[in-house]
Amino acid sequence: MKTIIGTPDKPWIDLTNHIDITGLHRLRLEIIRGIALSEEMNPSMYGQVLDSKFKDAYHTINYAKKSYNPEIRQHIEELTNMSGSAIDRRRRTAMYSNLVFGGYSSGWSIPVRSLPGQFADKNYAATTVESRNYPHFEKLMEWIRHLPFDEIGRVNIFLNNPYMGTPIHFDGATEILTHKNEFMWLTTEKKKFFLYDESEKKKYYIDSAAAFFDEMATHGTDADTAYKFSIRIDGVFTPELRKAIGIDKLENYCAKSLR
Ligand SMILES: [Fe+2]
Repeated sequence: MKTIIGTPDKPWIDLTNHIDITGLHRLRLEIIRGIALSEEMNPSMYGQVLDSKFKDAYHTINYAKKSYNPEIRQHIEELTNMSGSAIDRRRRTAMYSNLVFGGYSSGWSIPVRSLPGQFADKNYAATTVESRNYPHFEKLMEWIRHLPFDEIGRVNIFLNNPYMGTPIHFDGATEILTHKNEFMWLTTEKKKFFLYDESEKKKYYIDSAAAFFDEMATHGTDADTAYKFSIRIDGVFTPELRKAIGIDKLENYCAKSLR
């Protein structure tokens, strides 16, 4: 696999030697407690799904909005415009369209620091805010503040339900082929997360507790028998970290060969 970040065998960068990974493992029960206390939970949504047309909440909602059936369109409009938070609306429309079209949400996205605006703004402190869940993750945030970031943006926990995989997809509505967005992907759970090469039809598993990769790379998660979660911290790396992991001289971080 050709890639800009990582190696052909490992199209991602292992961060475990650059952060206090033992500290993260020590926080595991604290994080799980925070998840249990969280009230703001969004049904998982995906960008472009490759292996199945409508088997996710995002696509079933959009499909329902354009349905030839006027009753479905009317229901979706009602559910979308009903009062309540954006999360309430998304939950209702995802439930409706998944039931109508046989789609599913494989789990939940649990914001710790949320992104109220555009996907492209997720790396910055000024464009992200503390979520309602934030107070439940004080110790995790304290650990995050010691990471080699110059700036911390969105912090999100992705939780997969048992027996539910995340379809192969890439994030965002459109491909951004040149970008320098930085983030850490973390798990204490051995989540079966992989990057996917479409030409080889091959999954490259991240068998590490902490990694960085091209955020536009196609990816997914295999189903497991238990709940599995990962944490994603978007931000701006310190120049020292960039140098230490060998990305300081790169023009961009996009592995175009993945598509
Ligand atoms: Fe994704």
